[in-house]
Amino acid sequence: MSQRSCLSVILAAGEGTRMKSAVPKVLHTIAGLPMVAHVVKAAEAAGSGELALVIGHGADEMRKAALKFAPKAEAFVQEKRLGTAHAVLAARAAISKGYDDILVMFGDTPLIDPEALAAARLKLAEGAAVVVVGFRTENPSGYGRLIEKAGKLVAIREEKDCSDEEKKITFCNGGLMAVAGRHALKLLDQVGSKNAKGEYYLTDIVEIAAAQGLDVVATEASFENALGINNRAELAQAEGIWQQRRRREAMLSGVTLIAPETVFFSHDTEIGADTIVEPNVWFGPDVKIATGVKIHAFSHIEGATIASNCDVGPFARLRPGADLRTKAKVGNFCEVKQAIVEEGAKVNHLTYIGDARIGAGANIGAGTITCNYDGYSKFFTDIGEGAFIGSNSSLVAPVSIGKGGYIASGSVITESVPDDALAFGRARQRTLPGKGKELRERFSQAAAARKKG
Ligand code: UD1
Ligand code: CA
Repeated sequence: MSQRSCLSVILAAGEGTRMKSAVPKVLHTIAGLPMVAHVVKAAEAAGSGELALVIGHGADEMRKAALKFAPKAEAFVQEKRLGTAHAVLAARAAISKGYDDILVMFGDTPLIDPEALAAARLKLAEGAAVVVVGFRTENPSGYGRLIEKAGKLVAIREEKDCSDEEKKITFCNGGLMAVAGRHALKLLDQVGSKNAKGEYYLTDIVEIAAAQGLDVVATEASFENALGINNRAELAQAEGIWQQRRRREAMLSGVTLIAPETVFFSHDTEIGADTIVEPNVWFGPDVKIATGVKIHAFSHIEGATIASNCDVGPFARLRPGADLRTKAKVGNFCEVKQAIVEEGAKVNHLTYIGDARIGAGANIGAGTITCNYDGYSKFFTDIGEGAFIGSNSSLVAPVSIGKGGYIASGSVITESVPDDALAFGRARQRTLPGKGKELRERFSQAAAARKKG
């Protein structure tokens, strides 16, 4: 099958008013990735060579976004929204290049499975002219019904055009269609708009092809493949299904999720075997986690790389550029941004590390802050191997602490500290014997005098 050339046409010209959003519908995200990008990924996984993206509302925004998730896709603008067949024909220039297979997908159907696409292409390879991917549901309302005669698919009837009898059919059009390239334009050009909505329906090519004696086939896929997103409630439903799939995949690949339903992955999260994720953990985009890592409860992690056997959280926040090397520890209420925490270094309590390097084995005391920002620019803090930063210290960048450097608690460090040096950056303590008692007496007398007067 791989020798067959293929064009995937993704329809994404929906106006999206029901999302109540300034953002085009198909750019709303699932697991951090626009839903239309999920469709593109599925098409690519099924071996679709070329991509045509049919866009309408918000064309410029779509074009810009598509550069990221589908840089090779050719965009076609459907000026007026006259129906799904009309939308496919917006990509006429691409279709007429002559492909073996044409796949038509909807940009608002993000959970589509590459296997369903591959199965449809297989039917084309076996000689079908049109393949419709159907699904069964107890609640078919709103979907096109697959009309079969003597076991053969002969038409798809949209809900609004169905007779009462036809409305009872529970085998529905999932919206994914595969068409033999050599028939595609001929069939699409014969579609008219005589129906309840007055639109050019892609689904009509089934009846046209069947009437001409071409082989028309329905395959069956699960309901998720057809889950079309029209509002934010459906968006959340799709997110839920996506997360469920991903959690299962993670667990089957050797990751322990103690309460899987409370862990949220991004579309690109990489996570190694024997990593344990405690409840209520959020992974934003671009996170790579090696093996044997412990992510404790309530951690929020994005743009971070975590090497093997690290320990993170509970309540840790790793932001973009956090780079934890083997066996590093970032503990509770710590934030790390754009910083390398080298092997075995510990940042355990209530600390902010930004724009920094922490050398191997260094120990960062509770409440340490790298003061990396002066309101205009960011500056770097370098902490050497084996250094010890006493609790409640502020390291005012740019500054460096040498290897084995030792910072006294409560210091404000504004000058670099050489290797193995001890630095105090705080006022010297004064202790005045008996003065505490004296002070208390003075204050209590003053308070009593105020009460009287
Ligand atoms: C469509 C199918 C229906 C199927 C259902 C599955 C048709 C006629 N009907 O119905 O059989 O059961 O999907 O979800 O195909 N679009 C454009 N330009 C247009 C019209 C639509 O780009 O002029 C795009 C939309 O952005 C959307 C997709 O095509 O991504 C489907 O259009 P929509 O109007 O949602 O079709 P449904 O009524 O859901
Ligand atoms: Ca739809």
